[in-house]
Amino acid sequence: MSQSKPVYASFKSIGAYVPEKILSNADLEKMVDTTDEWILKRTGIKERHLAADDEYTSDMGAKAAKIAIDRLGISTEEIDLVLCATVTPDYFNMPSTACIISDKLGIKNVQALDISAACSGFVYLLSIAKAFIESGMKKNVLVIGAEKFSSIVDYTDRSTCILFGDGAGAAVISASELEEEKFIDVHASADGSYADFLVTPAPGCINPVSQKVLDEGLNFVQMKGNETFKLAVKTLTKDVKEILAKNEIKSEDIPHFIPHQANYRIIKAVGDALKMREEQVVVTVGKYGNTSAASIPMAINDIWESGRLQNGELMLLDTFGGGLTWASALLPFAGKSK
Ligand code: ACO
Repeated sequence: MSQSKPVYASFKSIGAYVPEKILSNADLEKMVDTTDEWILKRTGIKERHLAADDEYTSDMGAKAAKIAIDRLGISTEEIDLVLCATVTPDYFNMPSTACIISDKLGIKNVQALDISAACSGFVYLLSIAKAFIESGMKKNVLVIGAEKFSSIVDYTDRSTCILFGDGAGAAVISASELEEEKFIDVHASADGSYADFLVTPAPGCINPVSQKVLDEGLNFVQMKGNETFKLAVKTLTKDVKEILAKNEIKSEDIPHFIPHQANYRIIKAVGDALKMREEQVVVTVGKYGNTSAASIPMAINDIWESGRLQNGELMLLDTFGGGLTWASALLPFAGKSK
């Protein structure tokens, strides 16, 4: 009996979309009791981009996806699965943002679905894309992280409004027979006992839309910032150490460590714990803030566009978010260099 060749998932292209409008720390100083100095020192964030009132998560996701598809040079007809990670979907529950993005891109008769894993969403999707491709079910999976986080932020709450931004990033993950292009490993996990660390209480079946929801602002994101911070440093460090050890790769041999961009102090603490050199660690939080599921693909796009990420180079992704969820991935960039 002839054996078919193994097929691998490979990361073939990247794209991103950043909305035009900028919300600077100086702008926030006029809105809440905060200072540019406090925000910079505690988070490393200088500014974040916000979508226009009539610009939605699906618009940003579709724009990022179109760039990723065009860069790969395939047609939308070749995409056979559309996955979107978001906690700020166009609509509560249905239709999914992935369905709307598919329609905006002219992708028809193809499976499309959203997942909710907060900031870990994009890396979660990589594990799903890998499984679909390596099982032989799909060939070109469009993977999108897109957020209009400003739609769930209370701009009178200084503990959260300084942190978040809007944007989208997308990748095409394709089937490849080349072993050197394959995802080396993806690890995704969760612990729901910390669900109250990061929560948007409404709308949902616990708190359906009501006057109470509006009066108490239950539709806005709530975060136990300090507790989340400590757990983020601990979990991200442990997760990266595990994936590196399991695959017998040393941290100094990683050219691009791309952590979730939530807070520069978290990134620095994890980088230091792993003994990473400054040039290995990708930092974009200063200009985008925390864009949740879009943060990692936006960061990958940044280093691709600047020419820093080249074909064949290894990426180590590491993320942490509401749920609580966390995930890491070790994979080469298998697309064209810029
Ligand atoms: N400006 C000025 N002072 C502030 C501000 C502000 N914007 N925000 C809080 N403070 C004050 C607090 O009121 C507090 O004052 P007090 O000491 O008088 O009570 C003081 O600053 C310290 O507050 P902390 O919350 O302890 O500040 P911390 O150093 O922890 O920084 C921050 C807060 C930036 C939110 C940090 O905790 C953090 O980044 N947390 C993790 C975020 C994260 O990783 N999230 C996960 C992913 S997000 C997702 O999944 C969607």
